[in-house]
Amino acid sequence: MRPDINYNPQNKDLEIGGLSAAAIAEKFGTPCYVYSANAIQARLKTLQRALGAAGIGERTTICFACKANDRLGVLAEIAALGGGADIVSGGELKKTMSAGIPPEKIVYSGVGKSREELQSALDAGILQINVENGQELKLISEIAKSAKAHKPHGTGISLRYTPNISSDTHHKTATGHTENKFGLSEHAVTTLARTAKEAPHLRMQAISIHIGSQIVNLDNYDTAFQKLRALVDKLAEEGITLSHIDLGGGMGISYGRGTEIDIEAYTRLIARHFGDTDHKLIIEPGRYLVAEAGVLIGKVLYTKERASKAFAILDAGMDALMRPALYDSWHDIVPLHAPDKDAPLKTYDIAGPICETGDIFGNARTLPELRPGDRLAVLDTGAYGATMSNRYNARPSIPEILVKDGACRLIVQPPSIDDIIDAERKLVFESRVKT
Ligand SMILES: Cc1ncc(COP(=O)(O)O)c(C=O)c1O
Repeated sequence: MRPDINYNPQNKDLEIGGLSAAAIAEKFGTPCYVYSANAIQARLKTLQRALGAAGIGERTTICFACKANDRLGVLAEIAALGGGADIVSGGELKKTMSAGIPPEKIVYSGVGKSREELQSALDAGILQINVENGQELKLISEIAKSAKAHKPHGTGISLRYTPNISSDTHHKTATGHTENKFGLSEHAVTTLARTAKEAPHLRMQAISIHIGSQIVNLDNYDTAFQKLRALVDKLAEEGITLSHIDLGGGMGISYGRGTEIDIEAYTRLIARHFGDTDHKLIIEPGRYLVAEAGVLIGKVLYTKERASKAFAILDAGMDALMRPALYDSWHDIVPLHAPDKDAPLKTYDIAGPICETGDIFGNARTLPELRPGDRLAVLDTGAYGATMSNRYNARPSIPEILVKDGACRLIVQPPSIDDIIDAERKLVFESRVKT
């Protein structure tokens, strides 16, 4: 069940943190994203409790994969409950630190970190950098000499291991196979671990994995953890002892119709594989913490009848929410319009305004008959929603609202189309500097 987001089919309204979604949309306009702070807190506490129950709470740092949702208002909720962050860019480093997440709880993943980004991470003195290849390790070693943060034992290095398994998830979100661009083979990890161990200014600290996203079948983790443990033990036999093990993220949710990961069983699984070691553990959940805490609200602009089907065209499209177009992903879609007991049910393809055939949030959705002006909420869009949005078709990004303690607050007000044009106009027509 979604924490703190309740749909009442009788009065056809959605309540977010006890507030009416229709009223929020009325106040801020559509399209908009709305998040519940309580829902984020509830998920984080559930995970913390499950880690505690498995006996690994004290030694596990939850590093929220902020690519799922990097809004300061959201990150501040994570920070307040003691959460850390998994980042993949210099921008995410700045955002997480601005939101109050301490550098000692930040790990830096990502397959293409630039020199400047690495420099800022080393200067900040973050917990660990998850290295993806030998060239990157060499670069970090160079930069570490002059890093501003004083790390008496050197910068913490983790090597990202690809356990070479095919996870049960969409092929575009599977990352645990050597066919994908992420991570290092067992051989490469072993070789680079020897290099990192000897490198001045570096500390060979951890091995990390991340086998993919939206994983609900624990067998995938079981296999990956087993391979990871074998590798950690093999390195220890060589004298390369690690202080940390980073298990990545990927914990899946139900999206309203499937099963979600059994989080207690997941934490017990971690304890089964790593409970007898004294390593500190890191996990990097993204979606699990925030997906169900967010909804995208759009308004019906038009309905359109075709010979074979009907469309409802919304003012929100794939520029705001990419997931259905990118992964054919399912999101529940619910109407927010006033109750009309006599409204017949009708089946629609729910489409956006973007000039792409793939700009569809859901096919063949049966809803009370829609009229222009009716509002619909697309559920479970708190993860990989706003952060993946773009300005295609010269459509500005949309406002984002956080509900907390019975009140709602604008947390993101993106630049308007006039702001965007002004900025471009200054460069194109008013700047005298030619390069
Ligand atoms: C390295 C890494 N860690 C964690 C995550 C978070 O995944 P999820 O949101 O599925 O938990 C990702 C997602 O792509 C990732 O690449």
